[in-house]
Formats: sequence, structure tokens, C-alpha cells
Amino acid sequence: MRMKMIPCLLVLFAMVLACAPVSGETTASEAPRKVIIDTDTGADDASALILAAKSPELDILGVTVLMGNVSLEQGTRNALAALEIAGCDAPVYEGASRNYSGEKILPVSVFGEDGMGEKGLIHPRKKAQEEDAVDFILRSVRENPGEVEIIVLGPATNIALAMDRDPETMKQVKRIWSMATAGLGVGNATPVAEFNAFLDAPAYSRMLNFGLPVTIIGLDMCNGEAQWTDENFETLRASGEIGRFVTDSFSMIRDFYNQNGSVGSVMNCDSLAMMCVVEKDFVNRTISCHGSCCTEIGETHGQVIFYQEGFTYDLVLNDFEYNVTLVNSVDKADYFDLYLKRIEK
Ligand code: RIB
Ligand code: CA
Repeated sequence: MRMKMIPCLLVLFAMVLACAPVSGETTASEAPRKVIIDTDTGADDASALILAAKSPELDILGVTVLMGNVSLEQGTRNALAALEIAGCDAPVYEGASRNYSGEKILPVSVFGEDGMGEKGLIHPRKKAQEEDAVDFILRSVRENPGEVEIIVLGPATNIALAMDRDPETMKQVKRIWSMATAGLGVGNATPVAEFNAFLDAPAYSRMLNFGLPVTIIGLDMCNGEAQWTDENFETLRASGEIGRFVTDSFSMIRDFYNQNGSVGSVMNCDSLAMMCVVEKDFVNRTISCHGSCCTEIGETHGQVIFYQEGFTYDLVLNDFEYNVTLVNSVDKADYFDLYLKRIEK
């Protein structure tokens, strides 16, 4: 009888550990980091959720969703589907369906109507939790003061709302990681603004000015050698079910890039930001900065200006609070292989 019990117990044990940290890969001294992933779940967000679920360094307390690439409803379904294919049972919470100013904005997705390549990939079995995303963020931080890192892969609306609802609790957040801004390069929403910062510039400004330590991964880290090529996607597709899911989800963004001058390779920004979080030596250089997001309506809307600590500008007194760590160099050439290695585990 005892032998019969063991296989059942092993299955149960494996299910419990689905996306909890694998203790063998994390020593007691390096307890898995408590994270919340905030996402507007397009294809690159989904690939980043899968990467996080396959990374034993992280203990995903939950995934919070908002409108951005796609509607809140679609983004929630996409997040649930990505976690399920990664075998991760982290809970999902619905957040902002409007921007920080309360306006309903039509989502803009270069990833396709469903945000996931329009390949019929999205059939999640589970549903989102009843609890509101912002309430979940605040509850998690209250329960784990000084320990929670929030990884923001879309606009900063949920974060700004949490800062308004309970600023004292939000001061207990350990660090915010943000995939947004053009970094020190060029924008994608406009020549100077990146999509996540642009779509809700007032929220991004609120997040930057709140004073928490924020690590920013900009578009300039995601381009060039970091872009995934047609050959990379062929390798990814051949790697198994998850590889096929991610490759199919990128179908329409790859068409978009091919029609707009970047033939045969695309950025995968959100997974690169997640790689900066999980892969110890992936980031080579950072710059201590103050970040200022332009919120005026006009050509600079959504541009984030970085005042580098210690730099003497000719006409600006540079005596800001330097709460931003801007990632300025990563192992771009290793990015795809590092991703593949982690999801194949
Ligand atoms: O500009 C790239 C960012 O905007 C990514 O997070 C992508 O998912 C979109 O949200
Ligand atoms: Ca995103």
C-alpha cells in the first residue's frame, strides 16, 4: 500500500511546486524573491510570464493585469493562458481598464487583435481572482513589507493607483522593475516616446516621482543583437509546446516588423526585462539617474528624460533624487539562448 501511495504523493508534490521555487536550485541563503508581475499581456508579456514561471529565483505572488496592448479582459485571458502552458498556478488579478486619468483608451496592439498573434491560442481553463489587482498589490506588500519587487511590463496605471490608494504601504515596496522608455535611444510610439510610458504618461510620472527605487529597461536594450531572428523562432518552435506557443503568439508582430523595415528579426522587450530580473550576470552596466516623464500633450508626450547623477549640465542644476537605475548594457548576444535554456527546463 505504501508503494502505491508514493507515486500519488510525488504527483501532488510536483503540482504544488509547479511555479514555486525549485528548492534544489535556490540555496537557503538565497530565498526566492517575492515578485508581482504587472502586465498588459501581449505576446512579449506572455513570453515573459513563461520565463518567470520557469525561473526558480522567483516566487510569483500574483500577476496583475491592465489595459494596454489589448483590453483588460483579453489581457487577463492571455495571462491565464501563458501561466497555464508554463504549468504555473500563480493567481491572476484584474486591474485598470481605464488610464490614470479615468479615460477609456482603445488598446493598440501590433501583436494582433487578441495580442497573441490571432492563432487561436487563448483557451484558459482558469479565471481571474475576485480581488481587485490594486487591492492585491497593497495586501501583498502589507504582508511582506520590504520584500516585494513589482515587475511592470505595461503602462504604470495599476502602480500609480496603488500609490494614491495607500502611499504608506507602497513605500514598503522593495523595488520596481519597469520595461518602458526609450532608454537613451529612440522611441517606438513616437520618435521620443516608448509605448508603455506614452500610453499613460501621467501614471508613469507618478511612479517615477514617488521615490521608490526603480530599475528601467528601455527599448535601447532590446534592439540590435538582442532581437530574435527567424532562425531563433525556428529553434524555439522546435523546442516543444511552450516554444510553439511563444512562436505562434509572435506571428503578427513579426509581420509588422517585416513590413516596417526590420526584416527577419523582432524585439522581445518584456522577456528581456524579465531576463534582467532573473539572470544574475545578464546586466553589464547601469546608470544612476533621475527620470522625468513628459505629460504635456504634444510631440514630447511620454518622453522620459534621464538626468544622469554626477553629470554637470550646462543649463540645468542637476540636484534631483536619483531613484532610477537605468540599465545601460546587457548581454544582447546571449539573450535568446538564455531564454531557450530556461524554458526548456
Ligand atoms: O514598447 C514595448 C512595450 O510595450 C512592451 O511591454 C509591449 O508589450 C508593449 O506593452
Ligand atoms: Ca507589455
